[in-house]
Amino acid sequence: MMIKVVALFILVSCFIPALFAQEYDQLVMEASSRMLDSDYQAALDLYRQAFMAEEGDVFDLYNAACAAAVCDSPDAAFMYLEKAANSILVEKEWLEEDEDLLSLHSDNRWFTLLASIDSRIDSVLTSLPEEHPQGPVIELPQPRLSSDVSVEEAMQNRRSIRFYEDSPLTITEVSQLLWSAYGLSYPVENAPDFLRGGLRTAPSAGALYPLDLYLVARNVTDLDPGIYLYRSETHELILIAGEYSWEEFSNAGFNQLHFETAAAAIVYSAVFERCTDIYGDRGAERYVCMDLGHSAENIYLQAYALNIGTCAIGAFSDLALKQVIRMTRAEVPLYIMPLGKV
Ligand SMILES: Cc1cc2nc3c(=O)[nH]c(=O)nc-3n(C[C@H](O)[C@H](O)[C@H](O)COP(=O)(O)O)c2cc1C
Repeated sequence: MMIKVVALFILVSCFIPALFAQEYDQLVMEASSRMLDSDYQAALDLYRQAFMAEEGDVFDLYNAACAAAVCDSPDAAFMYLEKAANSILVEKEWLEEDEDLLSLHSDNRWFTLLASIDSRIDSVLTSLPEEHPQGPVIELPQPRLSSDVSVEEAMQNRRSIRFYEDSPLTITEVSQLLWSAYGLSYPVENAPDFLRGGLRTAPSAGALYPLDLYLVARNVTDLDPGIYLYRSETHELILIAGEYSWEEFSNAGFNQLHFETAAAAIVYSAVFERCTDIYGDRGAERYVCMDLGHSAENIYLQAYALNIGTCAIGAFSDLALKQVIRMTRAEVPLYIMPLGKV
């Protein structure tokens, strides 16, 4: 189910007929549309043909397993699931919550499969740092506080944009976008620790600021490619990793089309405890994501004013994204916002 929702997102939002060129692509496209029509036997037959043409992609294997499970073919379902589960992109919750897989739950192979996913998750999580290393610091250009574009015009015209021009962004532009998202707008002298410097461009429940923002720079003038953490207090970037793979980043975002042409991306995470320590469950269930929405909308509006395209991406693999960004263990990834010239 989870994968089918992701597939639908991509299908509905991108309109990419070029993908129909190859036999494998044609077969799996046809299979996934049969899945959406609940014609599982036809979908399974198409997936089988596709896997004879080419080794299955992880999402296609997963969907084929769903079709096989519904069609009462547990051997095929486990064969496809075991192959799919070798990938970090397959999340345990998908398996546990997917109603298509219910018929497999009483089979011993089910528990073995879940245990193997658990041990993979553990090994990734233990490889993540408890705290960020103190990397080199890059001072960002100061944000500008005026523009020719009105707030009304930006609200009217902002859109989620998934294709970008093949040209770099400037460090001034990414600086402006980061500031709009979470920059300091009201410094407080001797601010308490939780405030981390003062009030910001986006509101936050209790001024607890549970979010962290990363910049993944791919093609930004005057900034080396790399993964950076944004430090709002000082409007600086801290280098987390100079060596990283955009391809792995794209994989973590299920290779949605944005990744092909984006020049950079802002990635949001949250340390929920910053909010739940004060607000308990209400903080986790409501406030953190409300904070995220306020901040991300600022990026949409600021991006419009700079003639830059962006799109809130919520469909990605949590574990793969944490790994590629080198998040700390306590962080929960929330949004990817790709950026590129329109
Ligand atoms: C929580 C959330 C998650 C989203 N996830 C994705 C995504 O994974 N991929 C994508 O292309 N668009 C994603 N979007 C963008 C929506 O598809 C988009 O906002 C919607 O189609 C309305 O279009 P508009 O933003 O241009 O008004 C997401 C939006 C929100 C609010």
